[in-house]
Amino acid sequence: MISTLSLLQAAERDKYAVPAFNIFDESSLQAVMAAAKEARSPVIIQVSTRTVRMIGVDWMAQLFRNAAAQAGVPAALHLDHCPDVDIIRQVVKAEWSSLLFDASHLGFEEAVRQTAEVVRLAHANRVEVESEVENIVGVEDGIGVARPTHSYSAERIVAAAREARVDFLAPHLGTAHGEYHGRPQIRPERAAEFRRLCAMPIVLHGGTGLTTEEFRSFIDAGVSKINISTAVKRAYMQSALAFLETASMTDEWEPGPLLRAVHDGVREAVAPFFDIFGSAGKAESWPGH
Ligand code: 13P
Repeated sequence: MISTLSLLQAAERDKYAVPAFNIFDESSLQAVMAAAKEARSPVIIQVSTRTVRMIGVDWMAQLFRNAAAQAGVPAALHLDHCPDVDIIRQVVKAEWSSLLFDASHLGFEEAVRQTAEVVRLAHANRVEVESEVENIVGVEDGIGVARPTHSYSAERIVAAAREARVDFLAPHLGTAHGEYHGRPQIRPERAAEFRRLCAMPIVLHGGTGLTTEEFRSFIDAGVSKINISTAVKRAYMQSALAFLETASMTDEWEPGPLLRAVHDGVREAVAPFFDIFGSAGKAESWPGH
């Protein structure tokens, strides 16, 4: 599998960000891959702990390998927010590209200690680790908090990340998971501070609902991975709902066209992000693509 870190380092060099889309099943996976292929963009496929518990770690890896080979763009498979070491062990064994060890519910010392353990386990199988020790607000697939309880100085986070030998960082940058109700107080200057302090790639969570200018300010500050989940969920559910309302009215119950409607809805929803993040066309500069 392609290394997530190598995708992020190439993005940083060229001043764009790689979109990381959460997928929920084979239909949404194929839709995101089709959009990445169309845009000739590198892409990161993310799976939440809840979704992977449903699909299965090995089956997900197999689906991903098939979809990535068909799309012919550089693609990485990433486990999103996971505090569960049991699932992490399975993902490491199955050699996914990377995982986010979510230690944001723990006190600082314990978070660093457990992160270091996960890194040792993951690196033994060349799986990379994204680290989250402070809270990113919002609940994503059952994981997270409504209010921040842990936040630290950038210096402290970087020192801990070095000690634990993590590969990329997910600090709190003023964004939140889920729909925004009112404008967020975004903090691109904090991303720039991390960039000054270390060479580890910086990840932006809570991408759904930000404006093009807000995305650009984060990319200019050095963010190279941007997570989008809620927009994919919304497109998935709304295109399914529209299809089912028609099915109910016409009394026609064909699953095939429903899957097609979901595929098209998700593909259309994710397509604009490749241009906004500047990753469209960047697959060309990737060896073998
Ligand atoms: P949104 O659901 O706000 O797009 O955030 C996605 C995310 O950060 C996944 O980790």
